[in-house]
Amino acid sequence: MNLRVLAMLVLTISVMRGEEDILIADFESATWGDWQVSGTAFGAAPATGALPGQMSVSGFQGRGLVNSFAGGDESTGELISPPFRIERSHVVFLIGGGADLSQVGVELLIGETVVRRATGAEAEDLAGEIWDVAELQQQVARIRIYDQASGGWGHINADHFVQTDQPPERFDLTARLVQYRQSASYMNERFRPQFHFSPELNWMNDPNGLVFHDGEYHLFHQYNPAGNTWGHMSWGHAVSKDLLHWEHLPLAIPESGGVMAFSGCCVVDARNSSGFGSTENPPMVAIYTGHGHGRQVQNLAWSTDRGRTWNLWEGNPVLDLNNPDFRDPKVFWHEQSQKWVMLVSLAAERVLVFYSSTNLKQWTELSRFGPAGSIHKPNWECPDLFELPVEGRSGETRWVLEADMGAGAIAGGSGGEYFVGEFDGTEFRASQRAQWVDFGRDFYAPVSWSNLPPQQKRQVWLGWFNNWETCLVPTSPWRSCMSVPRTLALRSVRFNGEEPEQLVLVQQPIEELKQLRKSTLTPDVSDAGWPPRAVTSAGELGGYEFELEATLKPGQGRSLGFRIRSGENEYTEIGFDRWQNAVYVDRTRSGVVDFHPSFAGRHLAPARLIHSCIQLRVLIDRSTVEVFINEGEAVISDRIFPTGNDPVLEVFCGGEGAQIVDLRLHRLQPIWKR
Ligand code: FRU
Repeated sequence: MNLRVLAMLVLTISVMRGEEDILIADFESATWGDWQVSGTAFGAAPATGALPGQMSVSGFQGRGLVNSFAGGDESTGELISPPFRIERSHVVFLIGGGADLSQVGVELLIGETVVRRATGAEAEDLAGEIWDVAELQQQVARIRIYDQASGGWGHINADHFVQTDQPPERFDLTARLVQYRQSASYMNERFRPQFHFSPELNWMNDPNGLVFHDGEYHLFHQYNPAGNTWGHMSWGHAVSKDLLHWEHLPLAIPESGGVMAFSGCCVVDARNSSGFGSTENPPMVAIYTGHGHGRQVQNLAWSTDRGRTWNLWEGNPVLDLNNPDFRDPKVFWHEQSQKWVMLVSLAAERVLVFYSSTNLKQWTELSRFGPAGSIHKPNWECPDLFELPVEGRSGETRWVLEADMGAGAIAGGSGGEYFVGEFDGTEFRASQRAQWVDFGRDFYAPVSWSNLPPQQKRQVWLGWFNNWETCLVPTSPWRSCMSVPRTLALRSVRFNGEEPEQLVLVQQPIEELKQLRKSTLTPDVSDAGWPPRAVTSAGELGGYEFELEATLKPGQGRSLGFRIRSGENEYTEIGFDRWQNAVYVDRTRSGVVDFHPSFAGRHLAPARLIHSCIQLRVLIDRSTVEVFINEGEAVISDRIFPTGNDPVLEVFCGGEGAQIVDLRLHRLQPIWKR
């Protein structure tokens, strides 16, 4: 919630109604005033932001705040307000910092009895907390802010305690959205993708709960309703009728009671096995990780109004191993065994646990898979499991198990890997070594749509178009976008003489994407050579959102391909490297690269020559590049932040015999209504 705006709104409204808010404390003066302080954690006076050694602190109001990081996380202490009479229905304030209620937090005391309690959510960004104190009116109370913790997140931030009769709605973005929707830059900032999904405001990460229901594709996502960095994770929501155009909807499942709504999935319970709906109106059931108070558990929420409102099940959690790294459930209906199957990650162990259920509420462990995979580092997250056809082998299928690692992936930082094998309803057995899902740096936590109409005969997923290591990309007032939805299949491929052939995951943009093509150019590139030669400008192309399809025929030289968004010593290069037998995206000089030391770089994907040629399909959308090689048998997904404008596209061919055999450029129209 943007509490500043809301606090102002509340103030205005209450002044209008003549029931003024009562300020308890705003910590704007240079001393603690009549608050009692003990220990060292709170320092000699209110802080004015981050303290030495602390990450940046935001979301407080005015200049001063309470921050118990004085002396770092080790220090402890306590701060107690003078007594005050409760004269309004609510006490509202801002809170951030650690999440372990037993050690850090804010309490409301009547005498010596604790009547309300709150804690942070392991974020330095303060967010609004609301206590309903109607039943306590006229009693004398005190506020106690305590820090007895000395480990990680062993501190608490707080600010601006107010008594009010008009509490703001928690995480209400209405005021900011109204303003943003009227602004000239609405969904049109220079790095804002035009045909990829992104949130209107604030931070987003993993796609969650992708499901088709009643004519709508749902795209829930990890979302921070309170800011433009990770925190207060809640489920954001958007729907589409065509998988192209998205409508942003209000928050679906908010963080509450210090428990964040982490990643998970959503199923349509057609048989009403859960009893949350009826067979006439089957419930949508979200199964997601509750993260808070030192552990991760699996929770249920359900909706019987097409995902517009959500109810948390009072029997939550459905799974609790008392484990701090147990997350990201994926549930599907297993037809042969007539039961629900869930896989969840014991992230730190790189183990996936399989469970089954007949009602989504009681789960029995079936088996485990892992540790496995390419990198022996912790963190497996956001698993998915589905059955795919093998291209060209009629009726033949295999199961694909996908998992994402927080660090150590092929292009550096976070990324996904997958196993091809068999799943019998109980156990998954891999029949091949792990392979990389994407060879770029920016494709994470992909999950597939559940409940697609059977006549579509396809599996579709999309991923978070980002990398945890370099996720603080230079955009505002939003951060992050999703990849385009991709159709999945398996293909038997032998990369560059490798033995034996492997089944590889083939990803292609969904067929629907072609509907966005508004015109096609077929420039003459027969004389491409070295140095790179301009093909088109933004003016001719109508913008920075386009798609190119090309056939490259390597010659004697090392490389051939394209440069996009060129400027003074600036370009992103996409090409085939004959020495490395690979397609590459080189974003070393792609524009704004200095926001993180690992951002600039060159990313390689294995590529085979088919009839001496490489086929490329490249989607470029202001700050995104997706390269689909040889009809999707390898993909490179990379973000770029170009400042160069002209030319938008150049071609080059190195050496005798090299040729760009054909090139088609499609202008794509934006999906956002402005
Ligand atoms: C993956 C992840 C998940 C977790 C979510 C929290 O990107 O770390 O494991 O559920 O993000 O936002």
